[in-house]
Amino acid sequence: MRKKIVAGNWKMNKTFQEADDLLFEIADELNDKGRGEVDVIICPPFPYLEMAYDIASDNDFLVGAQNFSQWESGAFTGEISASMLHSMGITHSILGHSERRTYFGETDKVIAKKVDLALQHNVVPIYCCGEVLAEREAGRHFDVVRQQVDEALFHLGKEAIQMVIVAYEPVWAIGTGVTASSEQAQEMHAFIRGLFTQKYGAEVSAEISILYGGSCNAKNAAELFSNPDVDGGLIGGASLKAADFVAIVNSFE
Ligand code: 13P
Repeated sequence: MRKKIVAGNWKMNKTFQEADDLLFEIADELNDKGRGEVDVIICPPFPYLEMAYDIASDNDFLVGAQNFSQWESGAFTGEISASMLHSMGITHSILGHSERRTYFGETDKVIAKKVDLALQHNVVPIYCCGEVLAEREAGRHFDVVRQQVDEALFHLGKEAIQMVIVAYEPVWAIGTGVTASSEQAQEMHAFIRGLFTQKYGAEVSAEISILYGGSCNAKNAAELFSNPDVDGGLIGGASLKAADFVAIVNSFE
């Protein structure tokens, strides 16, 4: 179902104590300032998921993972499975982040497997797509995103696809301070929604939440979120400060 969503991707940041403090600060800020109609999802590193889940259960946010294994279970040392996440109450997971693609060699084929496992285990996938700078400069950004969405998601049926949240994260905007302009974000989000319309029909595509990620902050969120096809944000750096993150949550009109 289409919703307004702000998700925080903490990436590999914070000690246990810092994470504990930040979770309580975010909970307090949300209690003070509210979150309106917005679903707030915090995605801390794996070791902090249980703590985050405990704090979330008395407060107003959800908890997601940043990734999980492409395998169901078994002899995969160091891996964490979708069913483990589900068994501890984790409802969401980021999948296919560009950092996973770049540093860990994740392909759309692998990510498609993870999407399937997520849905089998009732974990909502937050599927990331987006082009690198050279691809945008070469005018290939639409083709790149089309291929990513096609290969990782379009094997799903009409019901399953409506469980998926999409995050458009142009790689050149991640952690660079260079945000996509409001026009660039809307143009790509409308394009992505159009892909879903072609494949699944307008009724289904109208139900899919498409988030923007890449140097989204308390200053630019309101403009980005004012676009008709931008349903919220996937926030990296600015999710590590409670006041900034909650200001982003409260950036919808
Ligand atoms: P930044 O907000 O730090 O650019 O990171 C975005 C991101 O990668 C969220 O997944």
